[in-house]
Amino acid sequence: MNIRVFRTPSDAGIYAASILERVVTSKERPVLGLATGGTVIPVYEAFVNLVRCGLDVSHVTTLNLDEYIGLAPDHPQSYHAFMNEHLFSKVGIPVESTHLPNGIASDLRAECERYNAVIRKNPIDIQILGIGVNGHIGFNEPSHTLITGTHVVNLSAETIKMNARFFQNEEEVPRQAITMGVQSILQAKQIILLAFGAQKAEIIREALNDGIRTDVPASILQLHKDVTVILDEQSARHLDL
Ligand code: PGA
Repeated sequence: MNIRVFRTPSDAGIYAASILERVVTSKERPVLGLATGGTVIPVYEAFVNLVRCGLDVSHVTTLNLDEYIGLAPDHPQSYHAFMNEHLFSKVGIPVESTHLPNGIASDLRAECERYNAVIRKNPIDIQILGIGVNGHIGFNEPSHTLITGTHVVNLSAETIKMNARFFQNEEEVPRQAITMGVQSILQAKQIILLAFGAQKAEIIREALNDGIRTDVPASILQLHKDVTVILDEQSARHLDL
């Protein structure tokens, strides 16, 4: 794994956006695997700046990792709304080229199959990932087994607690989500894993330095041949670099 440590999340975001830019300019039909959460905001800010400086994204397709079950796309805490706010409304990616799971599908099993088909049709060139304090990637939560394809997941108590900061209170956080599975993530040609802040330092050490464990889902990234880990000094502080 290629590990890069930056002084601030903002510097790290500029670096990550420059990697995305390279993919966008070098491929005829680039497919970006996107993530939500506080960590990726500086990446999208830097990417939006690149677009404002002339980067063409009209030929880009995007696939997001996950969505809460029960939140409509126009719900302010949905991941659809997050993507619109931080990226889609600010750049010219055609709306029909942006894909997220539908959290209000009446048949969730069919929705998982639909999303798997979208992923098969649009092989991901580069996948951006944050990491949960419990080691989740997307919403692949610590478990005895990791699931390969898109699936419905019960969110862990830790995730509900962490994500409560985006809602009025913990009660409002959905208990379930649809997430891309680990095989789909590993099939991306290139992966960027980002983590910022002291609270991610221990899980970053476990994910990168210990063995591969299903109770630290991000550790499975050790199997991938092209992962760039982008950290700030706080999240890197337990690594021996
Ligand atoms: P965060 O979430 O970026 O808001 O810390 C990351 C994640 O849970 O994957």
